[in-house]
Amino acid sequence: MATLSSGEWRERIRAAGAEELEALRLDLFGRRGVLTDAMKALRGLEPSERAKRGRELNDVKAVLEEALSRRQEELSKQALDLRLATEWVDPTLPGTHVAVGHIHPLAQMETRLEEVFASMGFEVKRGPEVEDDWHNFEALNFPKDHPSRDMQDSFLVEGGYLLRTHTSPVQIRAMEERAPGPIRIIVPGRVFRRDDDITHSPVFHQIEGLVVDSGVSMAHLKSTLFTFARTVFGAEAPLRLRPSYFPFTEPSAELDVGCLFCRGEGCRVCKESSWLEILGSGLVHPNVLRNGGYDPEAVSGFAFGMGLERIAMLYYNVPDVRLFYQGDARFLTQF
Ligand code: DAH
Repeated sequence: MATLSSGEWRERIRAAGAEELEALRLDLFGRRGVLTDAMKALRGLEPSERAKRGRELNDVKAVLEEALSRRQEELSKQALDLRLATEWVDPTLPGTHVAVGHIHPLAQMETRLEEVFASMGFEVKRGPEVEDDWHNFEALNFPKDHPSRDMQDSFLVEGGYLLRTHTSPVQIRAMEERAPGPIRIIVPGRVFRRDDDITHSPVFHQIEGLVVDSGVSMAHLKSTLFTFARTVFGAEAPLRLRPSYFPFTEPSAELDVGCLFCRGEGCRVCKESSWLEILGSGLVHPNVLRNGGYDPEAVSGFAFGMGLERIAMLYYNVPDVRLFYQGDARFLTQF
């Protein structure tokens, strides 16, 4: 017991780091600890000696426990001070800017139009961007010498294929798949033409529509297209169907909406006409029905096609089609 100098232990405790402190605690009070052993050794002493020695040990024990807990407190405070000094936050600093992505305005417009037609029972169908002459032209009743068949106007692909110049070929694909059953689809997609100027891009987007069933008439066409146009452009928007021509429809009509910019006064956008053309349409030509595998005596249909960019430009009042393709965040974040 003579080796147990409480002064020496206190020195060691005062100088200890966190791990050493725990080791010292065990050296003193652990199962094989110095004090534990000394306490055990009391049993072998004379009763008078034992009482005296017991008191001494209790004093030493109290002193060392006190030293341990004081050091423990010091160390925790030091650790906390260190954290407070190093782990601080300046709440006045500007935050890290997290850029939030935007859905492209054309994609938003497409979704909107799909919703409008879905509410009228149309399903969305897609078709290939690389097409054959049959689906893109022949089956759609394009005469062999039709100007849009000129290779100047289409992108040709090896093997007699071309990049589709419109979404109308998906009409034929749907008919080939579904004849003699009914059809009510819209077809959004990319189309390709070889013009590239201020108002035209070589890649743009269309949405095609096709309904085939028994007894489909011009009245169905008109009510469907007017419902669509009023939902998108407002219940009060002036609308008119104007006779037109497409090889794959007969009769054919274009749908005009009253100019959204001048409200009938006449302006540059509507070229002083007060009207803006928004889509082409018509009753499906009997030859087209036949090419799709239907009997034009048994069923009839209507079709329509519109340019997504054009609708989006009118709807969002975008003056230049190229803004949609430049990926300029200043433009895109406005939608
Ligand atoms: N395919 C035509 C185009 O690209 C648009 C079109 C007009 C589609 C009349 C139709 C339609 O389905 O009936 O210009």
